[in-house]
Amino acid sequence: MARRALAWYSSAVAENGIKESATLSSWPSSAVAVSGVGRSYATNSHDVFNVHRDEAHNNNDTAFDFTPDNYKRVEEILSRYPDNWKQSAVIPVLDLAQQQNDGWLSLNAMRKVAEVLGMAEIRVFEVATFYTMFNRSKMGKYHVMVCGTTPCMLQGAKGIYGALKEHLGVDYGQTTSDGMFTLGEMECMGACVNAPMIAIADYTHGVEGFSYTYYEDLTPQDAKQIIDDIKAGKKPKAGSQHRSKAEPAGAVANGGWVPSQGTQTLVGPPPGPYCRNLDTEAEQQ
Ligand code: FES
Repeated sequence: MARRALAWYSSAVAENGIKESATLSSWPSSAVAVSGVGRSYATNSHDVFNVHRDEAHNNNDTAFDFTPDNYKRVEEILSRYPDNWKQSAVIPVLDLAQQQNDGWLSLNAMRKVAEVLGMAEIRVFEVATFYTMFNRSKMGKYHVMVCGTTPCMLQGAKGIYGALKEHLGVDYGQTTSDGMFTLGEMECMGACVNAPMIAIADYTHGVEGFSYTYYEDLTPQDAKQIIDDIKAGKKPKAGSQHRSKAEPAGAVANGGWVPSQGTQTLVGPPPGPYCRNLDTEAEQQ
């Protein structure tokens, strides 16, 4: 079904002379293979991670319950909301379940959240499916997300994606064979001033040690080095890889860091040319 839809789409593209988008042409085969239920094709890694497939590790019999410590955390989260609005806690409680469950939400993890909050299961499934930070498929220990929105794209996100794809040997929506890294794509993560960037969710230390770290001002080489550092058990530098924060010290261009060549931020009156003085012109008429 999915392959037929893809074949139809490809021929439509060819007939209409439409250039295939980078996302479409770079689909991993698994993205196509898993999308046969209810949709014709996956458009990004979120679609791959958020379509349920009954598998040995994720089915009606896969057990999930919060740990005693995490039940205490659930209680603390619920205390932030009125008693009759427990369902407002669905996002933080799902997040807690995901962190406990190594970065993804099994069917019964979502059902447990529904039970704890007194919600219809389908409502919880809907929330978990809609938000891209929730994963409904098993993930690697590290979820590496490449920002693919316009500012990052203009600053070289495709180069970052290409470098990571080659370095990890997996495409968007796939996990390395050792179960360490899942490569994904994410929309703008609000660090555009330091584009291009990636975020890495670390699920290796449970709820207590969970981290979600941004790495910014990346060159392809930086991106590969971050992966190598994680593999070596080191803690890569978070934030910008080339400046302190977001001061005008340079930018990534053509896959490399280019230091700024002079003032790029106004620290005095702009040098002109200026707009016409409309008040003076009006008086002269
Ligand atoms: S576009 Fe990448 S962080 Fe905004």
